[in-house]
Amino acid sequence: MDPIISIKQLSKTYDSGFQALKNVDLEIRRGEIFALLGPNGAGKTTLISIVCGIVNPSAGQVDADGHDILRDFRAARSSIGLVPQEISTDAFETVWATVTFSRGLFGKPANPAYVEKVLRDLSLWDKRKDKIIALSGGMKRRVMIAKALSHEPKILFLDEPTAGVDVELRRDMWEMVHALRESGVTIILTTHYIEEAEQMADRIGVINHGEIVLVENKHALMEKLGKKELRLQLSEPLQALPEGLRDQSLALAADGHELVYSFDARHGQGDIAGLLRRLAKLGIEFKDLRTRESSLEEIFVSLVHEPQSQPRPEEEV
Ligand SMILES: Nc1ncnc2c1ncn2[C@@H]1O[C@H](COP(=O)(O)OP(=O)(O)OP(=O)(O)O)[C@@H](O)[C@H]1O
Ligand SMILES: [Mg+2]
Repeated sequence: MDPIISIKQLSKTYDSGFQALKNVDLEIRRGEIFALLGPNGAGKTTLISIVCGIVNPSAGQVDADGHDILRDFRAARSSIGLVPQEISTDAFETVWATVTFSRGLFGKPANPAYVEKVLRDLSLWDKRKDKIIALSGGMKRRVMIAKALSHEPKILFLDEPTAGVDVELRRDMWEMVHALRESGVTIILTTHYIEEAEQMADRIGVINHGEIVLVENKHALMEKLGKKELRLQLSEPLQALPEGLRDQSLALAADGHELVYSFDARHGQGDIAGLLRRLAKLGIEFKDLRTRESSLEEIFVSLVHEPQSQPRPEEEV
């Protein structure tokens, strides 16, 4: 099936001379939830803003739902809903008026039944007569989503939907995103959190310094990233692993002063109790222990060093 969004060789240099995107190639599949993961300043909002026609690209081509975003802007834009990173809406309007007005902006005929459904789905129905200014931050965020959905877009961008949002709303958000996908909407969201990408996405793209470093099916990526380590500082160094400790998940480090136990964090906590029992049996004592998980930072480091992210010969360096 054709991708719903196709981005080819997209670059953006801001007027300041800063290059925020470098030859980005990316295809979003129809009906998927795609998470764009990257640190501050990676280029996530720039990428979204170009697809939504808010920022002009310096080079490259973007098609959204079969429409070139520059030549055929209105058609492309009407297939897209955007929930921006910054909440911005008319504070003195009511929820109902804001969402209805937003629909009108896209030239869609009034459809109170649809607007009602959107508000009910987002638990905003009781608030429909309230002015935006009187709503809590989480409620305002829901209004932004309702606005983005007001013209029945096929594609929804959520730029950091859960930044500064409490646990409950975060969970609601995840559920809502899945429900939207069920109704046929393609969703692209950005996040800093691996956990969030894991909860929500079918595929994950990692962006760093304006370059897409990797695009992968979530399960395959988590397989690679979900490693966790327990490090035990031994009271007495070991020359080699004794018989009872020889298995794939154990290794010696720091000249035998550390025993490293690696396990897959996605499958629970490993068998730490079992390991401690084995150590006690062998009379091996430790004075300290630490656990660590592969962080986003480390993931980027490891990705940047992978051969696939080296510049290809035909590219300019
Ligand atoms: N209007 C602008 N003029 C100049 N530079 C800009 C402009 N907008 C963004 N940038 C720069 O481009 C880079 C990418 O910014 P962008 O907002 O796309 O990052 P981001 O991945 O969304 O970050 P965050 O996670 O903090 O939202 C940053 O270095 C930013 O300072
Ligand atoms: Mg951003």
